[in-house]
Amino acid sequence: MIEMINVYKKYPNGIVAANGIDVKIEQGDFVYVVGPSGAGKSTFIKMMYREERPTSGDILINGTNLASLKNSKVPYLRRQIGVVFQDFKLLPRLNVYENVAFALEVIEETPKVIRKKVMDVLELVGLKHKARMFPTELSGGEQQRVSIARSIVNTPQLVIADEPTGNLDPETSWEIMNIFEEINARGTTIIMATHNREIVNTIRHRVIAVEGGLITRDEYGGEYGYEG
Ligand SMILES: Nc1ncnc2c1ncn2[C@@H]1O[C@H](COP(=O)(O)OP(=O)(O)OP(=O)(O)O)[C@@H](O)[C@H]1O
Ligand SMILES: [Mg+2]
Repeated sequence: MIEMINVYKKYPNGIVAANGIDVKIEQGDFVYVVGPSGAGKSTFIKMMYREERPTSGDILINGTNLASLKNSKVPYLRRQIGVVFQDFKLLPRLNVYENVAFALEVIEETPKVIRKKVMDVLELVGLKHKARMFPTELSGGEQQRVSIARSIVNTPQLVIADEPTGNLDPETSWEIMNIFEEINARGTTIIMATHNREIVNTIRHRVIAVEGGLITRDEYGGEYGYEG
């Protein structure tokens, strides 16, 4: 599903954040991306949804090469990938329902289809009863649930999450992980950068360790393996 071939990324300031990455990720995989701060985890995953473009190398997603993809085609790519961030990035003036529906309205679904899809994903994340509330009225964990609902409402085959539990307390983090497990059980590929050792060592999945812009370890059922 995803293949990186000799991917190299040098930022304009001269920092090399990917230094020859080769990796393959199959449909349905659940991948943790671990490593110290500054290792290149976010850069690695940002290149998968074309938030960053590689300096050289190829990135194939279902046969599309993101390295050469025209900017005009990026919105179409993004519709097929759900993205979840540490700081939720909800739209403050829209309520829960509208935040999730927004992703569908831009692709011109009918109101009836939108309503059904939005209420279904809100049910999945346990927030149907808060559909009319605004982001500021929600806890961090609830806001992250909304953000996950938004990321999957288009039924993407791939969900990318950059430290999705980074701002949450341990108990809420486990609840959020259960939602990702549920999404993965439906066949969706999940790629998650995380510093959460407990989670990685308990809910075992493939672990890709990144250090100095290189993959230093890649193990199914692997451990977190860092002190920090
Ligand atoms: N937009 C940018 N411009 C210049 N340098 C950048 C940019 N983004 C990241 N870097 C640099 O690239 C390196 C890798 O950063 P990246 O954000 O990928 O690390 P990370 O592993 O996600 O770290 P963290 O665990 O702190 O989130 C760092 O040295 C960082 O300073
Ligand atoms: Mg990061």
